Amino acid sequence: MTADLLENVPDVRASEEVIADGAVLLRGFAKTIEIELLEALRAILEQAPFRHMTTPGGHQMSVAMTNCGNFGWVTDRTGYRYDPCDPQSGKPWPPMPGSFRELARAAADRAGFGGFAPDACLLNCYQPGARMSLHQDRDENDFTAPIVSVSLGLPATFLFGGLKRSDKPRRFRLEHGDVIVWGGPARLVFHGVAPLAAGEHSLLGHQRINLTFRKAR
Ligand code: SIN
Ligand code: FE2
Repeated sequence: MTADLLENVPDVRASEEVIADGAVLLRGFAKTIEIELLEALRAILEQAPFRHMTTPGGHQMSVAMTNCGNFGWVTDRTGYRYDPCDPQSGKPWPPMPGSFRELARAAADRAGFGGFAPDACLLNCYQPGARMSLHQDRDENDFTAPIVSVSLGLPATFLFGGLKRSDKPRRFRLEHGDVIVWGGPARLVFHGVAPLAAGEHSLLGHQRINLTFRKAR
């Protein structure tokens, strides 16, 4: 492939770090397609803006969220669920852009999970101070598909624990363009994000945006 062709596809030459059995960190994997991703992101946010959702316990989350794809992850006083519609607008979530879908598939492929076909993409927006406490992704019907998580904007400290909540998490610094894939024996690992430090990113400003791809149904 020529350098020109490589400009618009995920960076297949990106480094690959196995962080656990079934979990791979692909540093810089999304960087070559950052412009496409940000354009697609802007279009999604016009239809379905970020909002702070409420947990079943009544707490407002510090991370603002939205979704694209056939199903969107939502939380409110009644619990967590995947919903085909945005409760705020009553309309279906914006479709998953081709660039998102292809990135997720390529990253999963690279991590050894061939044929990943996500039907849900949760978008998380972190302002300085926002955090996500340790949790498992377990609202999906099918745990044979991996999770693909893409970091954009300000760097964050990702917490990656074990299969028990009490397992001490290891800390990984995630930068703009980094992708983590976890599945198989790591599919139900507890993970989270430490409070975001203030800073400024050249493309995204004072925020971090994370795209989390799942097969929900
Ligand atoms: C998540 O677990 O949904 C978010 C992870 C991240 O923001 O990196
Ligand atoms: Fe998660």
